[in-house]
Amino acid sequence: MSTQIVRPARSFQGSLVIPGDKSISHRYAMLAGLAEGTSRLSNFSSGADPHSTLGCMEALGAKVVKTGAGPGSTIEVTGVGGAFHQPVEALDCGNSGSTMRMLAGLIAAHPHRFTLVGDHSLTMRPMERIRGPLSQMGARINLVDGHAPMTIEGGPLHAIDFTTPIPSAQVKTAVLFAGLQAEGTTRLTEAIRTRDHTEHALKAFGATLTRTASDPEKPATLAIAGGQKLKAVDATVPGDISSAAFFLCAALLFEDSNLVLDSIGMNPTRASLLDVITALGGKINVLTVEERHGELIGSIQVNRAEASAIPSGPFEISGALTTQVIDELPVLATIAPYTRGGLTIRDARELRVKESDRIALVVRNLRAMGAEVTERPDGMEIPGGQRLHGASIDSGTDHRIAMAFAIAALRAEGETEICGAEAAAISFPEFFASLDSLAQR
Ligand code: S3P
Repeated sequence: MSTQIVRPARSFQGSLVIPGDKSISHRYAMLAGLAEGTSRLSNFSSGADPHSTLGCMEALGAKVVKTGAGPGSTIEVTGVGGAFHQPVEALDCGNSGSTMRMLAGLIAAHPHRFTLVGDHSLTMRPMERIRGPLSQMGARINLVDGHAPMTIEGGPLHAIDFTTPIPSAQVKTAVLFAGLQAEGTTRLTEAIRTRDHTEHALKAFGATLTRTASDPEKPATLAIAGGQKLKAVDATVPGDISSAAFFLCAALLFEDSNLVLDSIGMNPTRASLLDVITALGGKINVLTVEERHGELIGSIQVNRAEASAIPSGPFEISGALTTQVIDELPVLATIAPYTRGGLTIRDARELRVKESDRIALVVRNLRAMGAEVTERPDGMEIPGGQRLHGASIDSGTDHRIAMAFAIAALRAEGETEICGAEAAAISFPEFFASLDSLAQR
């Protein structure tokens, strides 16, 4: 386990191109693996998780060629043309819940026996949410007490009408991927809209799907007909807004901060983060926006707002907003003590079953830094206007916890030690180097 020392900063300045989005990289890799032809995926995520997905695609018969190293690299995936191979060994999903859950839907219609395994953290995470709908479609899936290892006896699937009981883009994706290969038309209704990268990615690879309800606040039903074939594409992965979040939050901590982030994903189902940053005292300027394969990509400038423009009461994240910023909640919580009005997080029970129990771990580590925070079953309350001190932080081997507390450390008194800092590589291997280039000391 590696430890990283983070010293306080004087200011936060500079510009950065954010590496490719983890969620979109997973989807492009999976659909390219199934499609016919060679897809070129540029700015593919450098994180370990999407590379777990690429490893699984290779094990299933796709050819994966990496051109160039590090951020911005292009991955060429030659797909299996609709027919995955019987893998020789278990499919190793590493730390990646997205890989295990979405892959289950992608492979369930193929006439092979699959075993999906993961690391300790992934083995603790709930998988029944996937087994339920896929079993209704005719897949034979076995779990151990609701968890991985997962075995799938693949075979013909039939369409279902399914309402997601929890807002989860991974569950939605698993059902849509299975529906693409099932007999009949699968319909999926979600009461709270989750990130819609799967919908855009399926269309990019040539599939047709429809969505009822144009009002994003209303429950919508997605319909996808089975038996559709996918065609390879050349696509660019937008920068990861969840990685950008760490630096957006850091920019709130200093009066004279000035940050420009280029090529970041601004998909409306993810970009509510920018509204939260504004509500907590940031000033955001959108410099450019363009669309590629249905995804918005933009450049933004962030500064801290004038003190008089920053709300003095606590800001509340709850309901649909919680779903939209679910991955950014740890870092929003770690900067909350430094904000003027503080932060209340509700309806975030899902945080307890992420790569770690993110509510418990955020609360414990914030308290280690001297913060006052109240833990709730579904969130927390963090008063603003606090001063924190450096401490020894336990990442719990969770990438977002490691990075979130490195940001809190920038305004703390004294040094902070992040134990298990290597976890950052799951989504953002360049994180600590980028942090050093932006933090002025
Ligand atoms: C993801 C969906 C979310 C999110 C995860 C990535 C995705 O998980 O927390 O990091 O790419 O679809 P859930 O589907 O479990 O909410």
